[in-house]
Amino acid sequence: MLWKTHIAFCAYTLVRRPVFDIVGRSLSSMAAKNPFIRDKAYIGGKWVSAKDGSSFEVKNPANGELIGSVPDMKAVDAEEAVKVAYDSFQTWKETIAKERQVILRRWDELVKKHKDDLAKLITLEMGKPVREALGEIAYAGSMIEWFAEEARRIYGDTIQAPTKSKRIVVIKQPIGVACMITPWNFPSAMITRKAAAALAAGCTIVLKPSEDTPFSALALAELAEQAGVPPGVFNVVTSSRASTPEVGKVMCTHPLSAGISFTGSTAVGKILMRHAADGVKHVAMELGGHAAFIVFNSADIDAAVNGAMVAKFRNAGQACVGANRFLVQSGVYDKFCDKLAQAMKDELKVGDGFQAGVTMGPLINERAVEKVEKHIKDAVDKGARVLLGGERHSRGGNFIVPTLISDVNTDMIVTQEETFGPLAPVIKFETEKEAVIIANAAKVGLASYFYTNDIPQAWRVAEALEVGMVGVNEGLVSTVETPFSGWKESGLGKEASKYGIEEYLQMKSIVFGGI
Ligand code: SIN
Repeated sequence: MLWKTHIAFCAYTLVRRPVFDIVGRSLSSMAAKNPFIRDKAYIGGKWVSAKDGSSFEVKNPANGELIGSVPDMKAVDAEEAVKVAYDSFQTWKETIAKERQVILRRWDELVKKHKDDLAKLITLEMGKPVREALGEIAYAGSMIEWFAEEARRIYGDTIQAPTKSKRIVVIKQPIGVACMITPWNFPSAMITRKAAAALAAGCTIVLKPSEDTPFSALALAELAEQAGVPPGVFNVVTSSRASTPEVGKVMCTHPLSAGISFTGSTAVGKILMRHAADGVKHVAMELGGHAAFIVFNSADIDAAVNGAMVAKFRNAGQACVGANRFLVQSGVYDKFCDKLAQAMKDELKVGDGFQAGVTMGPLINERAVEKVEKHIKDAVDKGARVLLGGERHSRGGNFIVPTLISDVNTDMIVTQEETFGPLAPVIKFETEKEAVIIANAAKVGLASYFYTNDIPQAWRVAEALEVGMVGVNEGLVSTVETPFSGWKESGLGKEASKYGIEEYLQMKSIVFGGI
């Protein structure tokens, strides 16, 4: 009996867990060991190939080894997924909130149960250290847990009518097929932050994950299926970088798509918004940031350095909410730079995210490393001083040494563009007004951080910053409870928090007459 079970288990693993990719290349040993590597996309509850049979490879950014290959889906596959999601919406929208809550809770439990393999999958796909990846899985799970609860808290309204014969009520209904495009930097949490809210609202989903991290998305879909999400409710379309524009266009323009939720660059967000404008679709855009991290003279410098380490070096600096420029008041400038340099030396160990003790993995690809190098070179050419790092890591590949530069001014590219890497540029300022002007000069406004022990200043500056999220004496603003949102070119709409579900709900006024 035991033996039979063993054979059944092996058969299962052979069928479901490839050790070779679609065309027979052997997978890296880490990939071969992970039970969530798939070579198909997931549409209508089935594991499917692209209609044209094509696929693309996914490689580990730490060593270039093959993780696996997935279908390279095109517009025609995305159209199919939207149709399937629309058909499934006809029944999913009729479920009661409690049913959706129970399914979402089970999904969360499964994510918790498989947290180690899911975390290792993140490390394989985008390089962050396993410990940090486990933190992301906890963050991803918190979104599912939260929206399981929010499913039952979708409230309407009653409104006083202008005449005795009328009654006015407002109800909220799911918008329909919610299409989503998610990034590689948080391959699981950015999916659950959208998908759990959409499912809780009663929407069905077509998800296109980043071409760098499709396996985390497929794993979440598989666990959602095990949790009881019906076929066609959660669909995953995998596409290469080259095919993404046509798939994105279908998601924004298909008559059966209700809207698009996107996390990624402002440039791509604008393209998607233009597509979506034609059909007046719902749009939720979490776009680029360029966070200022301000340290005032009254700040507790040790606390500011601790906050800076998180705000700058979480995810190797590859976060939209990451601190991109440090503004430090003249009275504490040298002290802050010295202490930050020391903390960077003590706490940042660069290497493969699977190695014990590593706290910073590789960047996602060569382009990302080149961008950091470009920002350093431009700043140094214009007079900045390198206090630490400034070059590629001796390991080569996508590894770069965490870098601190001082004497930075606003003519340097690093103060104008998002770096998305482990580079901390420090600008000196004299007055509060000057700091706020520099911080608000950016076209984007996602997050900002500042450290002060002056309470009136804390209020003034928190109110003056043109961003969606402010950390006051705090370097990490992202939690499921906090509304995640941007101002200006950082986006539209809210994610997480009690507001996140609203993106997937349509408000409808019902006026009863003749009473
Ligand atoms: C990001 O979008 O890059 C930030 C992720 C988070 O902090 O939630």
